[in-house]
Amino acid sequence: MEMRQVRVERYGPPDSVVVVDAPVPRPGRGEVVVRVEAAGVNSGDARMRAGRFPPGFGLLARLAIGLRGPRARVLGGTFSGVVAQVGDGVHEFGLGDEVAGMTGVRMGCHAEFVVVPAVTAVRKPALLSHPDAAGVLFGGTAALHFLRDRAAMQPGATVLVNGASGSVGSAAVQIATILGGTVTAVCSAANRDLARRLGAQRCIDYTTTPVAEIGERFDVVFDAVGNLSRADGLRLRAPGGALVLAVAGLLDTIRGGRGVYAGPASEQVENVAELLGWAADQRLDPVVTVVGQLSALPEAYRRIDGGRKVGNLVVLPA
Ligand SMILES: NC(=O)c1ccc[n+]([C@@H]2O[C@H](COP(=O)([O-])OP(=O)(O)OC[C@H]3O[C@@H](n4cnc5c(N)ncnc54)[C@H](OP(=O)(O)O)[C@@H]3O)[C@@H](O)[C@H]2O)c1
Repeated sequence: MEMRQVRVERYGPPDSVVVVDAPVPRPGRGEVVVRVEAAGVNSGDARMRAGRFPPGFGLLARLAIGLRGPRARVLGGTFSGVVAQVGDGVHEFGLGDEVAGMTGVRMGCHAEFVVVPAVTAVRKPALLSHPDAAGVLFGGTAALHFLRDRAAMQPGATVLVNGASGSVGSAAVQIATILGGTVTAVCSAANRDLARRLGAQRCIDYTTTPVAEIGERFDVVFDAVGNLSRADGLRLRAPGGALVLAVAGLLDTIRGGRGVYAGPASEQVENVAELLGWAADQRLDPVVTVVGQLSALPEAYRRIDGGRKVGNLVVLPA
């Protein structure tokens, strides 16, 4: 049986991706094949498509993921869909179950079907739509990883979120609020209402007050843009507080330091389940825009590369 998938043969611009036919994958032991109803298209996919990485990572990243193009030719790291085939040894899911999850470095979700280890799939809450389930996971897992699992954010903390309207930032504003924090959002005037609706108590317009010039200190400083230097971030951080550099270059990633958190976010299945639960309970708004079917991927990539994307973009492969 054939399916359609979107492939990236070489690093390149949004229009360089191609929709092609390919065999539907077969599940190995412990795996399920999911018919992808919705797949996220995010800044991670755009980096992989373009071969564009934070400062210092260029060569290392290309050695790791592919010299001229990504070895994982089919991008897409988040899915929500329906179990279409079940491999040997899988007891937790049956045909027709609705599941969502993340595929890590294997990616592969920009296709009508994706094969995943059953242990990485989570039952999708019935009340949550496929686009919302696929959309909430990329920024959501990053924000949850940094705020709760690494920075150990406490109730009552003051939190500065730089880049509050993007995928990671919109999740960080909401998760910091869920964890009991008071959030100050840095965003453009156009996104002020969104940031407030997501829980920010205050918004600072970066076009009039550059983030590094905010003359205050916060218990947690969360940079989801990549324009805050480590030194400026430390100046904004209250004594004993945390600095999250979600977009750190190589030097800052290895340097780390007490209360400074950088590096790749983990995709723990427990966190995926927790985010889906919060979204189903309407505590967390996935802020999703459906762009179209697989053929809409170039348009999704153009919006991401434009740097003004709000929240999360999703395509509907099946
Ligand atoms: N460490 C990790 O594991 C990890 C995980 C996920 C993502 N990331 C990284 O995190 C970064 C953000 O990812 P994302 O998916 O959230 O990006 P995104 O959704 O594409 O971010 C777009 C948003 O950024 C805002 N923005 C642009 N310039 C800004 C500025 N100077 N100040 C404040 N806001 C600004 C835009 O709002 P305006 O239109 O208002 O400017 C727009 O809404 C990426 O570099 C990504 O690679 C890291």
